[in-house]
Amino acid sequence: MEFLKLSEGKTKEVYAYDDSRVLLKFKDSITAGDGARKDILEGKGILNAQTSAFLFRLLESKGIETHYIGMFDERTMIAKKLKMIPVEVVLRNIATGSIVKRLPIKEGEVFEPPIIEFFLKDDERHDPMLNYYHMEYLKLMARKEAEKIEEIMLKVNEILYPFFKSKKLLLYDFKLEFGRLDGKLIIGDELTLDSMRIREEGSGRILDKDLYRKGADLETVKKAYEEFFKRISE
Ligand code: C5P
Repeated sequence: MEFLKLSEGKTKEVYAYDDSRVLLKFKDSITAGDGARKDILEGKGILNAQTSAFLFRLLESKGIETHYIGMFDERTMIAKKLKMIPVEVVLRNIATGSIVKRLPIKEGEVFEPPIIEFFLKDDERHDPMLNYYHMEYLKLMARKEAEKIEEIMLKVNEILYPFFKSKKLLLYDFKLEFGRLDGKLIIGDELTLDSMRIREEGSGRILDKDLYRKGADLETVKKAYEEFFKRISE
């Protein structure tokens, strides 16, 4: 790519496009356990770029602002340049994953209303959970901003949950990251099967990165990502 690389994460590269825009290139890498398992899954970058673009367009069409502007190529998104906040915000509808390990909550318990959690983006410390006091002390965000983010998370859920349900898919949980632009909080990063949990309604079949986290072979993971994109986009 002929643009200046600004940063590189486990699954994406960020390039300077112009003064107000960046390019987000989705790589074919897949990782789990803070990088403990790592593989190349051919074509995954394209699938994730397309999935994220599709879902960001859906959110935009319902009045939720994201950093999505358009596509540069099939695996590269043109996005607004944001000042990213190094916090992962998780919304949970149905219990699974880290919450059933941390708290006396059983797999499959339904949260009504949903539970929202904040985590520091810090691989070395395994992304510790944050409360409003931690976030204010670490100058990550003010309480008012955290409350605004919670409001956005709930709105996103109110759009995504019924949308997936109409495709016979259940949204267990999802993670978003936020950035600032002109005093506004805007959704950045990605919304893909790497960052949400999706199960088929009825069968309970896993379609997301948990397949990889639980040790499934790469072909199975690829098939699930393909099937998911097909089901949401048709
Ligand atoms: O592992 P945990 O149950 O806390 O994950 C909650 C949600 O956040 C899941 O959808 C998972 O894919 C996502 N997540 C993420 N990046 C992380 C940790 C979790 O996208 N570093």
